[in-house]
Amino acid sequence: MRTIAWDDDRDCIVMVDQTKLPEEYTAYHAETVPQLVESIERLRVRGAPALGAAGAFGVALAARRADEDGFAAYLDAVAADAEAVATARPTAVNLAREVETVLAELRACSSVTEARERALTAAKGIADADVERNRRLGAHGATLLSDGETVMTHCNAGALATVDWGTALGVVYSAHEAGKTVSVIANETRPLNQGSRITTVELRERDVDVTLIPDNASGLCMQEGMVDAVVVGADRVVLDGGEQFGDQGVVFNKIGTYKQAVVADRHDVPFVVAAPHSTVDTERSADEVEIEERDPVELREIYGTPNAPSGTPVYNPAFDPTPMELVDYLVTETGVYEPPLDRSSFETTEERATT
Ligand code: MRU
Repeated sequence: MRTIAWDDDRDCIVMVDQTKLPEEYTAYHAETVPQLVESIERLRVRGAPALGAAGAFGVALAARRADEDGFAAYLDAVAADAEAVATARPTAVNLAREVETVLAELRACSSVTEARERALTAAKGIADADVERNRRLGAHGATLLSDGETVMTHCNAGALATVDWGTALGVVYSAHEAGKTVSVIANETRPLNQGSRITTVELRERDVDVTLIPDNASGLCMQEGMVDAVVVGADRVVLDGGEQFGDQGVVFNKIGTYKQAVVADRHDVPFVVAAPHSTVDTERSADEVEIEERDPVELREIYGTPNAPSGTPVYNPAFDPTPMELVDYLVTETGVYEPPLDRSSFETTEERATT
């Protein structure tokens, strides 16, 4: 099953309910826009490319549910729903970007019937393109790995963070497909544990050797020479670092990624970011990127059991910026780029790369 898709029989969105992992691998149907928004906020669907598909299908869902109250009023209603979807999470660029792509299709329509069809066709196309893109990205990234190597990864940038195949883990899957055996060290990724709950599940399902570690053990693993490369995904890559990072780019990814990059640098372990061009934001600087802050409950409690005195002040950022000077390779569907990045490679569709 794809991570997120359109259920033609029920005329709604179907997704793997990632809040139920690792115990249950079940489907959740989002029949309404509020159900989709809640699913995004609760991380039933998560990961930048999967959020892009959720955004696209979200506009299709809105287009199929909005009243036919004259075309202008209909478009306004869909746009209001689309805004709710686009802003459900702020950091991953793909969400708002794909909402806008499908909205643009709607604006080019002249009837409700046409809009309903066209929105769904566009959303399905976006989902299909994600899988195809990840396959190409994986093949490029696999050239960086040798038989017998061990990759450390943070959070989940696998099939379950995309429509299918994955970005960081897609690199591992592609290496396996090319006949190389590559093992994975998965960081637990507190506080929502995407590493232990999701990455381990999909790697074990595909018979990839995986060892789970607590986040705090990643430095020791690199110190002991257990890691040949750190490979992570990205929620947003910006080419303009803004006030703090200047003209070098920045990778926004799951909180803790920066720390992995610093330790990898200290131990000469290659630090690889795997992300499609759709995650590269050429319009904004790092200063304009909002880092999502999540509910204090995620730290004050562990699965409903108190983990800190109630009312303890909490700072719970979900992402952090890693300056491009700590990134050795950026792998996209068009090839492997070695920073410093050339802006022109990311502003056209005819990107050039080193491999
Ligand atoms: O909060 P999440 O689980 O949505 O965070 C996901 C990540 O940080 C991933 O590494 C990123 O979105 C890339 S997914 C291919």
